[in-house]
Amino acid sequence: MTAKTLIDIYISFFEKNGHKRIANSPLVPENDPTTLFTSSGMQPLVPYLLGEVHPEGKRLVNVQNSFRAQDIEEIGDNRHNTFFRMLGNWSLGDYFKSEEIPWLWELLTGQLKLPKEKLFITVFKGDKQVEKDEQAFKIWSAILEKEGLNPKERISFGGVDKNWWSRSGIPENMPVGEPGGPDSEVYFRFDDVKHEKECKDNPVECECGKYLEIANSVFMQYLKTEDGFKPLPKQNVDFGGGLERLLAAVEEKSDIFKTSLFTPIIKAIEDETGKGYLQNKKQMQIIADHLAGSVFIAAAGIVPSNRQQGYILRRLLRRSFDNFEVLEGDNISFVLQKIVEQYGQTDEILKEKYEEIKGVILEELEKYEKVKKAANDFIIKKYGKGDDSAKPAREIKADDAFILYSTHGLSPTQIRSLGFVFSEADFAALMEKHKSLSKTASAGMFKGGLADHSKLTIMGHTTTHLLHKALRDMFGTGLHQTGSNITNERVRFDFNFDRILTAEEMEKLESTVNEKIKENLPVHFEIMPLEKAKNLGAIGLFDEKYAKDVKVYFVGGSEGSSSVDSELPRTQTAYSVEFCGGPHVNFTGEIKRFKIIKVENIGKGQKRIYAKINSQLED
Ligand code: SER
Repeated sequence: MTAKTLIDIYISFFEKNGHKRIANSPLVPENDPTTLFTSSGMQPLVPYLLGEVHPEGKRLVNVQNSFRAQDIEEIGDNRHNTFFRMLGNWSLGDYFKSEEIPWLWELLTGQLKLPKEKLFITVFKGDKQVEKDEQAFKIWSAILEKEGLNPKERISFGGVDKNWWSRSGIPENMPVGEPGGPDSEVYFRFDDVKHEKECKDNPVECECGKYLEIANSVFMQYLKTEDGFKPLPKQNVDFGGGLERLLAAVEEKSDIFKTSLFTPIIKAIEDETGKGYLQNKKQMQIIADHLAGSVFIAAAGIVPSNRQQGYILRRLLRRSFDNFEVLEGDNISFVLQKIVEQYGQTDEILKEKYEEIKGVILEELEKYEKVKKAANDFIIKKYGKGDDSAKPAREIKADDAFILYSTHGLSPTQIRSLGFVFSEADFAALMEKHKSLSKTASAGMFKGGLADHSKLTIMGHTTTHLLHKALRDMFGTGLHQTGSNITNERVRFDFNFDRILTAEEMEKLESTVNEKIKENLPVHFEIMPLEKAKNLGAIGLFDEKYAKDVKVYFVGGSEGSSSVDSELPRTQTAYSVEFCGGPHVNFTGEIKRFKIIKVENIGKGQKRIYAKINSQLED
């Protein structure tokens, strides 16, 4: 079975059960400054899990490209990937455990034909805040008994560390306003994997990869509040299954890098290094995983740098170059080509952007070589040429190692691999000092992501609609939004415009937006067929691929103000009509004040406005 066939089986099974397919959200999220990457299928759906109405209804399904930066160091075993595809299905206040669990069993055993005797279940055992999930246990027990399997041998109970899911992990780590709930997981047991010493034979306690988690149904029914957990207005299901792991189970390969997806990639690495996978597993797993992740990140338009997503891309690439070098690899381009061939079967965009992606990656390789040379030169200048006839590891001061880290971007491992040794303890102390000095604006961004729905970001979001409309009124409908990023501190808005804005134009823009705020216009949304929204002149970005019905936000113009026959009155009374998932303020007056802070040229005929609103203007 190929990865593509598995996706097709999964999607069509849930479509048959009343789910609408939704698009794969961008890997680098828009409008969520708290996270660098989309790391699960549910992340773009948070507003809907919290109660917003989704235009496609209450049953959704998709395949979501996901990246987990926090797993970079985990790579090098049989089951971890930084980049993976998550098969997801959701009930937004519709069905719950008694539908989800039997469907999942049918998917795994009926559609994907996994042998029943290899499947094991985990269920939440409860803790002081939330009770044991008896309901899930009962449903699973009935299914297993019907199949002639003993529930006692098949179902294990896990605590909050295993069977609780929220983007921030266990209940204690969840911020107020975060949804979460108990989960139930399905594991596939590989009989060819031997337990390591001390390992208990059940999926809750085994850590050695004998049991592979292939499916996770989160029963998202709680909201963390100031006073502990409260039930969400609606009970949701958030299911996620890693495609690469499901494929490993279907193909009975206890190592995901031995599946039909990765075999050609590993073969390319073997060919280019002249070495075998079995003797060099860890290095080859890192190369395959990191390069695949890099290809997708580069395809999203990111280039290596020392900041945010660019930094992660740089780290992935340099780690794969290092490992390729250790294996004395020849031409890394052939590995890239194989990755694009394999993943291009499901993600055509990789094929279209192949030359661009390759350019970005090879340029970084060149830069890295230069950096390593510059690092060497720096040390030679300080310590003299030294005797490299026997190539002894050269002792350098931790301060100098730290310079190689902070100005050349080399990690301690990379510094060591250049042949330099230094005091680890002194280096760690310098690192600590550096960390506490640098204000961590990016704190938490490397975790699973927390879409920020604070009042200020919601206001910022509505502000972008006002700004978008005001700009189009001033400069014509050829102008459109090309991006935006909203934080608690400011609003950022990008648009296509190829000349400088004059001071008068900025002033006019600012006063138009402030006028609309003062008018205290009502904001509401309506869900309608895509064609109808287009006819209404709705503006904005939307993914047409799977959307039949879309959500449109109106600023001004009250609901039902149009007659059935003609949509004209409503578009005339509404100030802005824009495709959008929300959430938004109820009335524009809530924003209070809007001020442009600066306008930047960001190249390619595009401008970027930074602005502040409401209490952001107080300090
Ligand atoms: N959100 C859950 C996960 O990421 C299930 O989709 O595992």
